[in-house]
Amino acid sequence: MPEFEEARQEEIRRVPNPCVVVIFGASGDLTRRKLVPSLFSLFGEGLLPEQFSVVGVARSDMDDDAFREHLKSGVDQFSRLKSDADNLWPRFSQRVFYHRGGYDDPQTFKSLGKRLAKIDKEIGGACNVLFYLSTPPGLYPVIVEQLGKAELARQKDDYWRRIIIEKPFGRDLASATELNRQVHHVFDEGQVYRIDHYLGKETVQNLLVFRFANAIFEPLWNRNYIDHVQITVSEEVGLGSRAGYYDTAGIMRDMFQNHLLQLLTLVTMEPPAEFNATALRDEKVKVLKAVQPIKPSEVNKYTVRAQYRTYRDEPGVAVGTETPTFAAIKLFINNWRWRNVPFYLRSGKALGSKVTEINIQFRHVPHLMFPLPPEEHLPPNVLGLCLQPNEGMNLRFETKVPGAGMRSRSVDMSFLYEQDFGKNTLPDAYERLILDALHGDAALFTRSDEIELAWSLIDPILEGWAGKHAPVLAFYESGTWGPGKSDEFIQADGRHWHYSCSEG
Ligand SMILES: NC(=O)c1ccc[n+]([C@@H]2O[C@H](COP(=O)([O-])OP(=O)(O)OC[C@H]3O[C@@H](n4cnc5c(N)ncnc54)[C@H](OP(=O)(O)O)[C@@H]3O)[C@@H](O)[C@H]2O)c1
Repeated sequence: MPEFEEARQEEIRRVPNPCVVVIFGASGDLTRRKLVPSLFSLFGEGLLPEQFSVVGVARSDMDDDAFREHLKSGVDQFSRLKSDADNLWPRFSQRVFYHRGGYDDPQTFKSLGKRLAKIDKEIGGACNVLFYLSTPPGLYPVIVEQLGKAELARQKDDYWRRIIIEKPFGRDLASATELNRQVHHVFDEGQVYRIDHYLGKETVQNLLVFRFANAIFEPLWNRNYIDHVQITVSEEVGLGSRAGYYDTAGIMRDMFQNHLLQLLTLVTMEPPAEFNATALRDEKVKVLKAVQPIKPSEVNKYTVRAQYRTYRDEPGVAVGTETPTFAAIKLFINNWRWRNVPFYLRSGKALGSKVTEINIQFRHVPHLMFPLPPEEHLPPNVLGLCLQPNEGMNLRFETKVPGAGMRSRSVDMSFLYEQDFGKNTLPDAYERLILDALHGDAALFTRSDEIELAWSLIDPILEGWAGKHAPVLAFYESGTWGPGKSDEFIQADGRHWHYSCSEG
């Protein structure tokens, strides 16, 4: 094997230092469905250190065995690796412990400290600790405060203490800033990993490789060649059991502030000089700063808001609620590369299918030598990046229809991950992100200034929606692609929504 390939393999197989992951809210859905199945897969692939354990903290009445049983059903259902393979589960579960206690009770944290010391003696590795906040967000400040008071956040010698904070991070700029302040009171920014699991998806990272490892597209990636960009993140499901949270949040906070703006930054940022957390996040921050905020008085012009027709019948939502479950917005980026290129972002619940796609529509050719009937244009080239499902990409371009004359037709040149790399090769986003945090690599996590900038773009829209300039709340049938208003919104600019990766 050539030397560089050996080094690369070593990098891929690199195992973090001995450590413990402490999960707060460990009796909850996320721990069972994502966090522990991901840790289990990492363990099964030999990507965790020998001296490794997990401590789950929550108030529910369980002992270690009951906790392990609860988690096993989640691993069986959701993990990439199955629990019966290679005696894996017994080997993994003996490193999993349950620590019962209230999140605001100093005693919980005092005894957690003792538990960590005991683990350090028996298994080892408890000098390096990754705390994971997986409780409802209202509890984040008190847990952070208690960790500080119990001196569990303090890093000594070469040992580290880190914290992953789940989304949502705040519900507006003021609360996000306040949460940052509270967190920074106890943890340095370098210890903090704000997670947006979208960034852990292989295909989202592939956006970076696609843009910055290929010479063919980057010269075209600007206002001279790109007519506009569309970003669609749709969900097929409706509200589910999340009424309590969702009805007070709505689509803007739930999807735009994090996932859609993250995708926007990856598509539009300048190439960082190297792939490291500071360089990458500096570029993301720069482009967010260049996004022209939609003023509250402009929301009627630049946004559409809508609700699926049966939303108000869902259990737990307020009577006559105006919470939008769908939005489409148009943004501009005021910099050299993107001046005057519109970015159409849309997202919604109860839509036609679950898909995440980015469509880049290129400009028309400057002059067409082929005769076309009056008023007819050739369809433009569209590059469709499919982030889920059917991960891959499509380039739509014109070809000649065989036979006499010069008629043309659009065809697709496609790449599918599954075809080239096989099925089930994509690790879960949480696997990648937890492993990165254990390695101390924050590149795929959101920095404090980035999160505040994102909120500063969302706040004025929410303010506008609550005021006299709000666009009328439109309604749409479940299973469609949103309200007619969404089509009219983009058609008013002489464009239409693309469905490169889904059935439109
Ligand atoms: N679930 C997901 O797919 C998902 C996806 C993205 C982000 N997130 C975020 O991840 C975090 C955890 O999600 P989750 O779905 O696992 O949450 P969850 O099941 O609602 O809550 C986790 C645990 O927190 C404790 N808890 C819940 N409500 C509480 C309250 N009012 N006071 C004190 N403790 C309470 C409960 O444990 P005890 O009663 O045993 O203490 C519960 O098992 C949330 O911030 C969520 O926004 C979740």
